[in-house]
Amino acid sequence: MSNPHDKDKPTTIVIFGASGDLTQRKLIPALFSLHRKKRVPRGLNIIGAARTEQDDNGFREEVQEGVKKFAEYHFSEDEWNDFADHLHYCAGDFTKDDAEKQLKPVIEKLEGGPANRLYYLATPPQFFAGIISALARAGMVDQHDGFRRVIIEKPFGTDLKSARALNEELHQLVSEQQIYRIDHYLGKETVQNVLIFRFANGIFEPIWNRNYIDHVQISVLEEVGVGHRAGYYDTAGVLRDMFQNHLLQLLALVAMEPPASFNSNAIRNERAKVLSAVRPMHDFKTETVRGQYKGYRQEEGIKPDSQTPTYSALRFTIDNWRWQDVPFYLRSGKSLKEKRTEVVIQFKCPPHLMFPSSKDHHMTPNMLALCLQPDEGIHLRFEAKVPDTSADMRSVDMDFNYEESFGSRSIPEAYERLLLDAIHGDAALFIRSDQIEYSWELIDPILKAWDSTDAPPLALYDPGTWGPTEADEFVDRDGRCWLMGCGDRSKEKGALSPVAEK
Ligand code: BG6
Repeated sequence: MSNPHDKDKPTTIVIFGASGDLTQRKLIPALFSLHRKKRVPRGLNIIGAARTEQDDNGFREEVQEGVKKFAEYHFSEDEWNDFADHLHYCAGDFTKDDAEKQLKPVIEKLEGGPANRLYYLATPPQFFAGIISALARAGMVDQHDGFRRVIIEKPFGTDLKSARALNEELHQLVSEQQIYRIDHYLGKETVQNVLIFRFANGIFEPIWNRNYIDHVQISVLEEVGVGHRAGYYDTAGVLRDMFQNHLLQLLALVAMEPPASFNSNAIRNERAKVLSAVRPMHDFKTETVRGQYKGYRQEEGIKPDSQTPTYSALRFTIDNWRWQDVPFYLRSGKSLKEKRTEVVIQFKCPPHLMFPSSKDHHMTPNMLALCLQPDEGIHLRFEAKVPDTSADMRSVDMDFNYEESFGSRSIPEAYERLLLDAIHGDAALFIRSDQIEYSWELIDPILKAWDSTDAPPLALYDPGTWGPTEADEFVDRDGRCWLMGCGDRSKEKGALSPVAEK
């Protein structure tokens, strides 16, 4: 909290872009869930703000549909009616004077005195600066009567230059402490568990470095195609949509140094520090794969000759003492076989195998798989003696599964946690301006190279596969293969079967 007295004040959340998909699918379901869990702040008002003309009841009905359709918890009419009293709506163009003329009186009437405000910008990015500027002109970001915080959705810029320009523009209007740049991956329970796993256990951190780790793989694989977001996606592509934010944030959590405290600045400093140590790429033909699923160009709204990548694999290295020479392979794509988000750490092989059977046995390195979704869990793969043989060995797993340990309803939606953190003024899971710029510094040269003669060929892949064969060749050239640490691993190449020797 910026001021200790703020916690006694009522809170207003204004959602700009209230008629959009995100509000329906994620924001209102998350707020309703927090309401059911009695975690919303006292005196909460939620105001949907958008251009569409409608009244409070119209908005309530619209978002109720969204909750029924998208929320994973049981819908209860009584609970909804109780929650719906908090919902209001205001129509207008809030990059203009409507912020002052329409919205301000609505908010002030509901608040009836000093109150905290959280402005959620769930609009297309071209409106971010315009809305905050209109709020600033109307004196609505001034923090005398309570906190004024702004949550900004992605994409934050489309390249380094535009991200810097947006940061500069915002810093003229509000302070960095008021800005909460959201990356919903950081709100995922299993992603936060990476910190607990690494820093609340004594046995992993000592081997979490170049002496014991051969390489790291971070995979965010999606079954869905581009869906109804063609207009946005065809200009963004997979690097802007997934790598600049989600994948690089995952890399930061896996690779960062232990923060000295569980304080937002300490945690954000370490994430920024490791991102600043990632080596920018130079050889884009060998360090990147650029793919597109077959049929993408026939999707509605996609240019018939589109070169937009829907899949990519990248190899990064980190220039610091912990990670020198340890490759980080990152891959993400759409229209793949299944949805899977996982981090796989492959350890180095033992230096010598003395067992008689080892002559015919490929050396199988130990492997740790952090399964982030959908089969949330952690698996450690190691060698075991096959019973009733002299010394035959086989890979086996030690498994932790969230559902088994914590029950089936244990994993909340990422947005619940993030909304609550923003209300409480905890910015640890939000992206600071320097992190945004460091990650664009890594993605920008790839985007430029892919627009030039340095681009690797666009590798077409069949929907429903694990991506282009070029991505397999890419890791194969380093003597490695993609590993499947999660899901039904027994069926996958690279899972339980011997891993390619280096
Ligand atoms: C979003 C991307 O940020 O993340 C989408 O814009 C992607 O293209 C989505 O599908 C994936 O999120 P999740 O939570 O479903 O893994």
